[in-house]
This record gives sequence, structure tokens and C-alpha cells, in this order.
Amino acid sequence: MQNSFDPTAGKPMDAAAYAAMNEALRALITGVPHLTANLANASALLYDTLPDLNWAGFYLLEGEKLVLGPFQGKVACIEIPLGRGVCGTAAAEDRTQLVKDVHEFPGHIACDCASNSEIVVPIHARGAVVAVLDIDSPFVGRFTEVDRLGLEETARVLEQELSALL
Ligand code: SME
Repeated sequence: MQNSFDPTAGKPMDAAAYAAMNEALRALITGVPHLTANLANASALLYDTLPDLNWAGFYLLEGEKLVLGPFQGKVACIEIPLGRGVCGTAAAEDRTQLVKDVHEFPGHIACDCASNSEIVVPIHARGAVVAVLDIDSPFVGRFTEVDRLGLEETARVLEQELSALL
């Protein structure tokens, strides 16, 4: 039994739902001067809000590799070389990767074998990629263009509010 009524439970998120979540994110992190705390809360908000996920979190660029940051889900690989896997490709190409079936993505890195689809969005500071937002689902084809637009806006909120910390 659910503790409270949630009108979006089990339904895909539309643009309005993404707008509401992104405003909630902005309210959560604005004025908080702690990067780890903000990314931890952002991953919790995303994991709690988007239906049908098994992982949501961040990898932070350190030199030529991405290093695991705050996340929700099963334990994950710690370092990803730039250009490797879905995360490394998103960071190297500075382009969102929307992968309908991870088993068809060359070089996909399987952290949780339950993952079947994935979306990775680059995050910028000072004009360059500094991190990626990575979200996985156990369902093939879970992510759509609505998710891409909503999560790219999530990245813009993080960039605006955390620019001094990233
Ligand atoms: N699948 C990712 C690795 C990170 S995990 O999904 C948390 C990739 O191929 O980059």
C-alpha cells in the first residue's frame, strides 16, 4: 500500500512533470554551498521522481577519466575513461546519449546487469564538460525525447545553480 496518493505513479513523465521536478531541484540546491550534498540530493530526487529506474547519479570528470559521484542504485564502476561506454562517449562528444538498448551500444559498461536502457547528459562549467548525469532503466526503450528534453533542462539547472562549485 502506498503512503500517499501520487497521481504520476507508474506513468511516464510529460513536459509539465519535468518542469515541476526541475523547479523542485532548483529550490533544493539554490544557495547550498556543498557540491556533494547537492548532487546527492539531486540523484535522490531523480531516482524518486522518474518511474522505472534502477540507477541515477553522476560521474565527475577528473583529467582524462570520469569518476563515480553521488548516486542512487547498486554499486557502480568507479572510473570510466573518456570516450569509453555510454558515459565516456557523452562526455567526449559533449552530446546526450539516449540508448534504447544498451546491449546494442558498442563498449557499453555493464555495472548493474538489470540495466537495459540508459540516458547520459553532459554537464558543463566554464564552457567545458565537467560531469555527466547518468540514468539507467531495466526496460528497453524506457527513455524518449521528452526525457531527453527534461533531463537536459535538469543539467541546465545544475549548471546555473552549481557553477561556482563544479
Ligand atoms: N553504463 C555506463 C556505466 C555506468 S553505470 O551504468 C552506472 C556506461 O556504459 O558508461
